[in-house]
Amino acid sequence: MGFWKSLFSSSDVTVPPRKTRTQEYIAALDAGGNTSSSARILFSTDRELDLYELEELCDAVGWSRRPLRKVKKAIQHSFLVISMWEVRGKRRRLIGFARATSDHAFNATLWDVAVHPAFQGKGLGKALMKQIVKKLRSEDISNITLFADPHVVDFYRNLGFIPDPEGIKGMFWYPN
Ligand SMILES: CC(C)(COP(=O)(O)OP(=O)(O)OC[C@H]1O[C@@H](n2cnc3c(N)ncnc32)[C@H](O)[C@@H]1OP(=O)(O)O)[C@@H](O)C(=O)NCCC(=O)NCCS
Repeated sequence: MGFWKSLFSSSDVTVPPRKTRTQEYIAALDAGGNTSSSARILFSTDRELDLYELEELCDAVGWSRRPLRKVKKAIQHSFLVISMWEVRGKRRRLIGFARATSDHAFNATLWDVAVHPAFQGKGLGKALMKQIVKKLRSEDISNITLFADPHVVDFYRNLGFIPDPEGIKGMFWYPN
């Protein structure tokens, strides 16, 4: 059991859903094949996520571990959370994640966009991004921003995101 896992009991790691947008499957993709064992890809806005499963996804894409109590809080206070699942029969596996914070009127910022490495390069990151942008647009949010790691700038650029529009620079303040 990892360090953080040892600090939280299992009852701590399920994020209680907000009153709205729970258990809502917003789209499904056919992942190919016609047999009963073939997979479907589902997108969900349900916030009731197993944080250990999310941590595994974040580990798989090589992100540094974060305290689960803070991850839980971040999810609770996000404006929109979208998870992406591979579903085979009754089994489902978390294969992608993204969330947005927002002022609920004009602006939203995307965070934690990830697709499990085993599922990358199949168009699923693009599909995930399209879902989150579509959801935000349906809430009449028009200004969608994100902070791109250098190696994914072109991924976002291909989806219509513009680096430094009109010379605007993202600026950061960190504690010393
Ligand atoms: C970035 C990420 C979400 C892309 O997901 P993905 O499922 O592999 O992407 P897709 O297969 O949907 O690719 C869609 C398009 O983007 C391109 N693309 C994918 N990753 C790219 C990258 N790193 N740089 C440039 N283009 C990229 C693909 O070639 C594809 O192009 P096409 O539409 O012309 O065929 C995924 O690689 C990932 O989770 N990376 C690790 C976590 C991470 O870095 N997240 C971003 C933090 S800011």
